[in-house]
Amino acid sequence: MQVCTSSTELRAAMKHRRAVAFVPTMGNLHAGHVSLMTQARLRGETLVASIFVNPLQFGQNEDFNSYPRTFDADCEKLRVAQVDFLFAPTERELYPEPQTYRIDLPEIQNQLEGRFRPGHFGGVATVVLKLFNIVQPQIALFGKKDYQQLMVLRNMVRQLALPVEIVGGETVRDGDGLALSSRNGFLTPPERAEAPRLHRVLLGVRDAIERGETGFPALERDAASELDANGWQTDYVAIRRQTDLQTPSPTDRPLVVLAASRLGIPRLIDNLEVSTEGRGALADS
Ligand code: PAJ
Repeated sequence: MQVCTSSTELRAAMKHRRAVAFVPTMGNLHAGHVSLMTQARLRGETLVASIFVNPLQFGQNEDFNSYPRTFDADCEKLRVAQVDFLFAPTERELYPEPQTYRIDLPEIQNQLEGRFRPGHFGGVATVVLKLFNIVQPQIALFGKKDYQQLMVLRNMVRQLALPVEIVGGETVRDGDGLALSSRNGFLTPPERAEAPRLHRVLLGVRDAIERGETGFPALERDAASELDANGWQTDYVAIRRQTDLQTPSPTDRPLVVLAASRLGIPRLIDNLEVSTEGRGALADS
């Protein structure tokens, strides 16, 4: 694996490379990231990963400074996953001047995660577009763990006619159901024992919908109450349409249940697609 810290170096090294598959990350890699690398390895001749903790997508009171940085361990995992090139720019390299030209997103940027993280998706879309321009991949992989991010990026690529195919990867979980996340490391042992409740609550909502319940607001309220009764501070549990993450009418399908809740220090997010005939809207294309 060749590690490149500048875009010029990466572009030079990748000259004549074809069928490039790309997995952008912020590092502190776990099995969820690695599963995206494994899928990308199968889909591309050249596999590029990036590690960049993007300040543009963190709010003022968020965890940019404390975001875990584990570069050497990450490199080892990427080597094992047979990554060809790692792009790991410094902040100064990626943003040599203030990034005043940014992607302007539609209203979805203010909903769900966006309601609690103003400016977050604009920061994500801007850095991903910039990384696409540097890496010039044919395929890019993103996890369904960050469902709204995947949807926003899919729609950006479609509306701006970017020549890249976006592929969604399934969420990788620990044996007890907790979705892997770099932020899980901030849970104390008792909180870690409590954390799988988030997944269980989502399973309960999903099962209720699959049984035919259509009182979505009540299902959302009950789920949030169950979390809060067990020491969580819930931002939202929301049943939405998979395609555009808008509020569904009782007959709209396919659906997804999304949640964000704080347990101690970390704020955890998770989601589950509600099974329907056929595949989910964000399934692998
Ligand atoms: P990061 O949180 O490092 O995640 C990198 C990729 O890994 C994302 O596509 C994310 O959805 C995926 N991922 C995280 N946890 C996962 C899990 N448990 N199972 C499957 N996939 C998982 O998301 C970002 O970085 C950034 O916003 C980025 C896209 C790199 C832009 O800065």
